[in-house]
Amino acid sequence: MMKKYSIAGKAVLITGASSGIGKALSECFAQEGARLFLGCHPSEKKALEEWMKDLRARFGKPVKGFAVDLAADGGPERLYRMVVKAAGKLDVLVNNAGIMVYGNFHELGLERQRRLLRVNGEAYLTLMRLALADMVATGGGRVLTVSSVSAFQPSAHHAVYGATKAFVQSLSEAVNQELRGTGVMVCTLCPSYTDTPLLKAEGFPKRLRWYWISGLADPETIAHKGVGAFKRGKAVYIPGLRNWLIHAVLQRIIPRRLAGALSWVVLRQTGQGG
Ligand SMILES: NC(=O)c1ccc[n+]([C@@H]2O[C@H](COP(=O)([O-])OP(=O)(O)OC[C@H]3O[C@@H](n4cnc5c(N)ncnc54)[C@H](OP(=O)(O)O)[C@@H]3O)[C@@H](O)[C@H]2O)c1
Repeated sequence: MMKKYSIAGKAVLITGASSGIGKALSECFAQEGARLFLGCHPSEKKALEEWMKDLRARFGKPVKGFAVDLAADGGPERLYRMVVKAAGKLDVLVNNAGIMVYGNFHELGLERQRRLLRVNGEAYLTLMRLALADMVATGGGRVLTVSSVSAFQPSAHHAVYGATKAFVQSLSEAVNQELRGTGVMVCTLCPSYTDTPLLKAEGFPKRLRWYWISGLADPETIAHKGVGAFKRGKAVYIPGLRNWLIHAVLQRIIPRRLAGALSWVVLRQTGQGG
């Protein structure tokens, strides 16, 4: 059996750490004794500072924050440079920051969808490329890609979001294979719907039919299970047996066209409002 990866004392960068899954992940990594370097959008600087104070008080470890817009030109490069300067060397990159855009592709604003691509796709690629080059050169390190079950089938009504998750999932799995023998790994965490501000983004429905099947996970449970799988070196981890059966097994058996049609039905808004 593979030895569990030890997080104690490791320099860990988590993007999007001011709320939701990223915030919950930062608590789990702090519990494991990591030295934390937390990223947030500049508009969330105050919230992150409050959260860092709390983490320092409870875990007694240094925590540093970096407010950088990952959608801005050169944003991911700037964040990486700042973190490496502060940390000396980065051991773990958690690519987590993400946004959601809900609605029909042909009706949603192009600039909103391009922004989503920059944050959920391009920023992941850039940070992972920069971190892996340094990790391979020093012979150790890990990347945790926060992907989604949306990576495994078409996601009607949030098509670009699903497409970015399919992109980072495929990228992470392929790169993980290329890294054989280097001492470096890329792991992915693929949650189903989780109760965070992401699902309260402008235009996102209050309820989806899919919630009747999937429910809504809480971010703390996802983070706790995700860090456990990361330490065990799981390349693809889908929290929850039901989610695993649906997205890793069923989606491989049924015709792709049916998977797309089902997503159109179950990811539609139910009732009024939202
Ligand atoms: N919630 C779900 O159902 C679900 C399911 C599967 C996967 N995920 C994935 O989990 C990850 C975390 O999402 P979450 O659900 O925890 O949502 P969340 O609470 O909204 O967290 C996303 C974080 O990313 C930050 N962020 C967004 N745009 C940014 C930018 N341009 N530059 C820097 N930071 C930026 C957000 O900052 P602001 O608050 O300022 O926007 C926020 O802190 C995402 O990759 C998401 O796709 C979520």
